[in-house]
Amino acid sequence: MTELEFILALRITICDIWIWIYSTFTAAVMIIKQIKISGFDVFCYIVGCERTVIGAVIDPGGNPEHIAEEAKKAGVSIAFIIHTHGHIDHTAGTGRLKQLTGARIVRHRLEGDKNEVDILLDTEETFTVGDIIFTIFHTPGHTPGGICLYAEGNLFTGDTLFVGDSGRTDLTGSDRAALGRSIRRLMELPDETAVWPGHDYGPTPSSTLGWEKRNNVNAREYGFYNEGGPQ
Ligand SMILES: [Fe+2]
Repeated sequence: MTELEFILALRITICDIWIWIYSTFTAAVMIIKQIKISGFDVFCYIVGCERTVIGAVIDPGGNPEHIAEEAKKAGVSIAFIIHTHGHIDHTAGTGRLKQLTGARIVRHRLEGDKNEVDILLDTEETFTVGDIIFTIFHTPGHTPGGICLYAEGNLFTGDTLFVGDSGRTDLTGSDRAALGRSIRRLMELPDETAVWPGHDYGPTPSSTLGWEKRNNVNAREYGFYNEGGPQ
């Protein structure tokens, strides 16, 4: 090896180490609080960025005072209220929670009534909460403008995917084939991705995509069946 080759190799090695250090120590730390809303077993989520303490509430289906209190306990300032979709059991607490927090309301542009919405999401984009960058998946099927949010190995699935099941497709605006396509796209994420569903309908309050591939009742019909079979 010549002196020049040695210097180049050394520079590349130092550069690789720096990239590793940067990516290891700059990943945002995400606070997640799962809150069960009384009535329809809806799961609401407080998600927050640990460094900036900026947060969002996903699907405030009710109990807005309790949600605001939980956010306070977690030390998170709620800047956004995000609807995975527009069904009332996921949105009923929105107005009061906005009064309490001043948060802006976010939903997909294809989803229902947009009168009170402050930020409309387009088909596919990212959405930033503090240092957390959510990838927005437009997942039609349960409703036309349903979304799932992914960040830091966590997937918030609304009524697209439940633990062991998936959303209804017998409602106005539902499309069963579209739901199958939407879930198949989600299944391209790593198997260890945590699934945070919109209702407490399964044997556990959360799961992983790998578990869903083996155990979800719709896995075979929607084409994400894992030949390993049920655990
Ligand atoms: Fe729904």
